Amino acid sequence: MNDRLKGKTILVAGGGGIGGGLARRFAAEGANVVLGDVAPEGAEAIAADIVAAGGSAIATRLDGADEASTAAAVALACEKFGGLDGIHANFANFIEQDDSVGALELPLADFDETMRVNLRGYFLCTRAALPALLERGGGSIVYTSSPAACKGEPVRLAYAVAKAGVEALMRHVASRYGAMGIRSNCIAPGTTIHERLETELDDATKQWLLDLSIIKSRLGRPEDIAAMAALLMADEGSYITGQVIGVDGGVVMRS
Ligand SMILES: NC(=O)c1ccc[n+]([C@@H]2O[C@H](COP(=O)([O-])OP(=O)(O)OC[C@H]3O[C@@H](n4cnc5c(N)ncnc54)[C@H](O)[C@@H]3O)[C@@H](O)[C@H]2O)c1
Repeated sequence: MNDRLKGKTILVAGGGGIGGGLARRFAAEGANVVLGDVAPEGAEAIAADIVAAGGSAIATRLDGADEASTAAAVALACEKFGGLDGIHANFANFIEQDDSVGALELPLADFDETMRVNLRGYFLCTRAALPALLERGGGSIVYTSSPAACKGEPVRLAYAVAKAGVEALMRHVASRYGAMGIRSNCIAPGTTIHERLETELDDATKQWLLDLSIIKSRLGRPEDIAAMAALLMADEGSYITGQVIGVDGGVVMRS
């Protein structure tokens, strides 16, 4: 592993499967990592692992959908490590579990809650982080999107709308703040298997997902997403902005 991120401080908003992979990779490349999650126990365990492996990480309770909480996480990063160089907004709720539900049946409360967390929350993270990044002379914002944002699917309406909104947010940030040194990109993971999905998905579903992919040897892993995120956080990625980058085994081929 190289040390492309040495001297940088990165806030990962949302632990869990992919977020844990992001935190581990950023720290392995030398970053100081602040890992925030609304369920802090998991984030604390990941941060402890990183520190035990010789890396630099702290965990904090972060509700990404709450303005004061996002501001506090950014303040914590600045206080502990002297500033902020990157934020990866990664959390999501997944309350739309019923595939029989479409626009006609989706409870308004579920639509609103998905927007509140998955879209408004990313906006709040952006607003909290931008001043600190600008103070540093620039930085990188990465958002976790999804193929759902562009594919057109009969299920998970609110989730897809929120992710499409995140992609619009990303382009706004890239175009408005680019001249001030801010880069902004989305990573759209394909099916990325980790502990939660390993148990939630049965073998037939995993096979079906594999069949959808161009790469047939395996489904995605958090490490795949983290490898792209590390590039986007690093100076090596300093000419990449305003992009939605699929890390999805070829499920979506963007032009
Ligand atoms: N895993 C996949 O196949 C896949 C595919 C496409 C996109 N994604 C996206 O990747 C991201 C991570 O997904 P994952 O699969 O690792 O899910 P996960 O459930 O393992 O992790 C999500 C984490 O977000 C946290 N969280 C939920 N609400 C929060 C809030 N308000 N504030 C802070 N943290 C909160 C949860 O506690 C959890 O730790 C999500 O944005 C998801 O939409 C995942």
